[in-house]
Amino acid sequence: MSIDPASIAELAPPASLRIPAHIGVIMDGNGRWAKARGKRRTEGHIEGVKALRNLVELCINYGVANLTVFSFSSENWTRPKDEIVFIFNLLRRFVASDLQRLIRNNVQVRIIGSRDGLEPSLIRLIDDVEAKTAANTGLVLIVAFNYGGKAEIAEAARKLAREVAAGRLSPEAITEDRIAGALYTAGLPDPDLIIRTSGEQRISNFLLWQAAYAEFVFVEENWPDFNEDSFVRVLETFARRDRRFGGVEAVQS
Ligand code: FPP
Repeated sequence: MSIDPASIAELAPPASLRIPAHIGVIMDGNGRWAKARGKRRTEGHIEGVKALRNLVELCINYGVANLTVFSFSSENWTRPKDEIVFIFNLLRRFVASDLQRLIRNNVQVRIIGSRDGLEPSLIRLIDDVEAKTAANTGLVLIVAFNYGGKAEIAEAARKLAREVAAGRLSPEAITEDRIAGALYTAGLPDPDLIIRTSGEQRISNFLLWQAAYAEFVFVEENWPDFNEDSFVRVLETFARRDRRFGGVEAVQS
């Protein structure tokens, strides 16, 4: 079978785009998307999962190496109980419907966040997904679930303090690298780009440590409406940014 070179060119990202090695996404606005259509909030979350599936494919096609999505924050526990149960079940359904496709697409899945408060069956599911995809070498999909940036840093501090108390680590050896290595994201590059949808312009406790030099792009559309056009526009905005990391010369990422 011969492959039409034109179709390959169509799949490849335009040369002018700079592809970030790590994108973080605050998927916001599912509830507003639903409300604007006279639907229940939960229907917005269902559409949100479709947009997430689409984004994973886009990241694979455009050559993004790492994607972190914020799917349940430690602050989301204040939502109505039935919505919390719905989002938890959505994670179960996402795994049931998408795991085989993720494996076929060579995606490695990591789920970061606190396991406290999660049902044992959900913890087993998370462990199982991570184990089944651990050897995959393509896109790393990091799902931040029951995640809070401050809680993550506090947990890392406790871990290092225990090492100090046990005499295995001196306080002077607590460097930035050592702290980074004690976070859930140990071994991953920091995000170059963080996208937030729905017009809100906040970090909301997402990847606080890791976002130190991330570029932020805020888009107006609600998460379920985020599509390839939105993605390309964000990448174009990112490509126009000078990243100086505190220095004076722009650095290519
Ligand atoms: C933000 O919209 C969305 C969430 C808190 C949940 C995000 C979840 C998904 C997109 C799907 C989950 C995916 C998995 C894999 C579990 P919002 O409810 O805050 O919207 P609003 O600000 O308009 O109310």
